[in-house]
Amino acid sequence: MKQFTWTKKYSVGVESIDEQHKHFFEIANKLIEMALNEAAEKDELVALLGSLGDYAFYHLNTEEKYFEEFHYPEAQMHVEEHNKYREKIKQLMDSLEKEDRDINTMAKDAAIYSGNWLFHHILFVDQKYTKFFQDNHVK
Ligand SMILES: [Fe+2]
Repeated sequence: MKQFTWTKKYSVGVESIDEQHKHFFEIANKLIEMALNEAAEKDELVALLGSLGDYAFYHLNTEEKYFEEFHYPEAQMHVEEHNKYREKIKQLMDSLEKEDRDINTMAKDAAIYSGNWLFHHILFVDQKYTKFFQDNHVK
């Protein structure tokens, strides 16, 4: 499984948000490492998914705060996309608590879902706000 790499084509043209996206990928990459580590334990995965969840919520809220502040016209559809991801994180946390699935497989699922979601979301959803955010001087 390959690590996720942020490159310039994923830039949304706003430095602070690019930095957050990079950090998001770093957490997904830690999940990949965990997926490949046969000694990984459940507690570690719980902790890592917890930090992924916390960071995702923090990051998505950052964008949404700007949507509200500047009345971004495409906010509704964008927030719906965020909510799907929030839901997924909750599901992952729930199934981790309830099911007795293999830790490596669960880490791999979480990494792949998160990485793919983020790539797709940045390219097809986030990049739509580039001009709007720049016009409103978001840095
Ligand atoms: Fe977004």
